Amino acid sequence: MFIVKLNAIDSTNSYLRKLSVDETIDDYTTVIAKKQTRGRGQMGTVWDSQASKNLTFSVFKNVSQLYLEHPFYISVVTSLALLKTLQLFSIPRLSVKWPNDILSENKKICGILIENVIKQNSIKASVIGIGLNVNQTKFENLPKASSLKIISGKVFNLDEIVHEILKNLKHYFLLLEKGNYDLLKKDYEAYLFRKNKPSTFKDEEGIVFSGFIKGISKSGNLQVLLEDDIIKEFDLKTITLLY
Ligand code: BTN
Repeated sequence: MFIVKLNAIDSTNSYLRKLSVDETIDDYTTVIAKKQTRGRGQMGTVWDSQASKNLTFSVFKNVSQLYLEHPFYISVVTSLALLKTLQLFSIPRLSVKWPNDILSENKKICGILIENVIKQNSIKASVIGIGLNVNQTKFENLPKASSLKIISGKVFNLDEIVHEILKNLKHYFLLLEKGNYDLLKKDYEAYLFRKNKPSTFKDEEGIVFSGFIKGISKSGNLQVLLEDDIIKEFDLKTITLLY
């Protein structure tokens, strides 16, 4: 396993993706940057992070041997690896906001951007990008963002956290390799943000509605119990949880 440490780069995901195209790289090759000049978030957003205060890194994983029916399980194992790591560092009230935002005390402390390398219609590899807010204490214009330092009052060693995340990623990928889908899904659902609580959502057309999050389907869709007692499944681009 290689760990590449960079002072600055546009995006660790973009860097690692290029590297994986140009050469054969080992599983869990990791690129960590002190600063990203064009950090990328989900759905084309920007990921801003104060230099040297937080973790911004990407991990390469060949998933061609997993024969994944549902790529969502890459999100599940990554979320679980982060949740277990943060638990170890005594971060309270952890949850996962579907699909893979990690929250503590209802504030976002970690974002995950998974980019898959697809060849002949199947996923060959994943670049797993992780942005974890660690020692930053001010988030301007981001009222729902927080960090480990804000929550716990402690300053954390970044290397220690990365090593724990990598250890847990390996553990959960091993469970996935062994086909423990039900166990992983159950474990993930146990952390699901606002599960069984009345919640407000917005659909693709901007229509606001309410319902109860019940769980996720095997393919990773969000299952929501609606007013008329019907459970409807939503995929990623079709629903936003307003909170
Ligand atoms: C999100 O929108 O919540 C996902 C954020 C992911 C940010 C990380 S930081 C390291 C990696 N490189 C990137 O450009 N993005 C991811």
